[in-house]
Amino acid sequence: MIDYKEIKRKFPFFKNNAEQIYLDSAATSLKPQVVIDAIGEYYTNYGTNPHNIDSILGYKTNVKYDIVRKKIQQFINAKKVTEVIFTPGATYGLNQIAYGLSSKIMNGDEILITKQEHGANILPWYRLAQEKKAVVKFLPETNFRINLEQLAKMISAKTKIVAFANVPNILGYENDPTSIIAMIRKINSAVIVVIDCAQGVIHMPTDVQKWDVDFITFSAHKIFGPMGIGILWGKEKLLLELKPLIVGGGMNVWIDSDGLNYSVKKIPERLEAGTANIADIFGFGAAIDFINAVTLQEIITYTHQLKRYAIKQFNEKLKDKAIIYNVDSKAATLVFNIQNVFCQDVAMHLGSRNNITVRSGDHCARLIGEVIPEKNTVRVSFSIYNSYKDIDLLVSALVDEQDFLGGLV
Ligand SMILES: Cc1ncc(COP(=O)(O)O)c(C=O)c1O
Repeated sequence: MIDYKEIKRKFPFFKNNAEQIYLDSAATSLKPQVVIDAIGEYYTNYGTNPHNIDSILGYKTNVKYDIVRKKIQQFINAKKVTEVIFTPGATYGLNQIAYGLSSKIMNGDEILITKQEHGANILPWYRLAQEKKAVVKFLPETNFRINLEQLAKMISAKTKIVAFANVPNILGYENDPTSIIAMIRKINSAVIVVIDCAQGVIHMPTDVQKWDVDFITFSAHKIFGPMGIGILWGKEKLLLELKPLIVGGGMNVWIDSDGLNYSVKKIPERLEAGTANIADIFGFGAAIDFINAVTLQEIITYTHQLKRYAIKQFNEKLKDKAIIYNVDSKAATLVFNIQNVFCQDVAMHLGSRNNITVRSGDHCARLIGEVIPEKNTVRVSFSIYNSYKDIDLLVSALVDEQDFLGGLV
């Protein structure tokens, strides 16, 4: 069971910001000391460019680099360690996948996504479709989840890519990768399936082999790791066909002086041009260790409990004031509006008068207004350093307030 007080002590943010209630972990999580230390450890004790393998420190840096890649392979149950590609984050990963698949897309082909996607899982597909005269279509949803029967009717020989979040970042209703992918494969086994795991990776176990997915991506910063680092995973065969988004040092074997020819290395190097963000890779490894020590299952259970408690408190104390849009989703977000008050005024009231950080707006899912009646909402998101008391304080800050705009700093 999670001992939230003990967990909270592991996050130095709260030593320096004791009065803060942080309810925006879906945007980015706070970092435990072990992650901060691991980043510092690289700069303090290693310091070497990972491309330098001729010195002892360069060698040690590379050993550690490989260990982190292996940890991530195990965390997502990938078949091969070389299938794990380090990227600057999920946005980069999705852009790399869309760019790299370009040669497979023809005039009239179809790319299927949902209306709940984050912009990072919409724009790369729109751009690809525009360039290739393909079409982006939206998957039908029932109760905010992909509807399997209707999905089956949409898959055809024209379908080239299906891309969706296993846990969308606003409402958080889970799309089960295993059943969705099995259905797609039954109808057209050539479809490439991409899962945006940016939120899902901390809300359900990731098992790329069980899911039989083709590509996934996520960022470390939402799972207690550093900013500016993430991974793209793909099936080996597809990664070897993926055209690199970035070319340069570390990924090529030779270049002709006429500039017309060069040869590239195998995976993972071919998709990791340039000097790796090695300090943050150290931190990423520490974040995976941290999750494994707490256990993903405990994180899921605890954050679900917080969500259920929040719903109960809202129902009891804010019944006539708040409209909740995702009452029965399990994920650790609570999405609501206060009647007749703009969401940003609510967020500012909480943030500037009550030290409660929440998020307002469309949360980068620009098409969400076609899914729920209100495009702009307040999103509260929970993590393991939150408590029931945090929720009580949130609710009382909302209950007491009559004038959300008055007195803002
Ligand atoms: C579902 C989803 N996909 C993609 C992203 C983009 O992640 P990043 O900004 O770390 O690249 C986010 C970030 O909020 C997200 O929630």
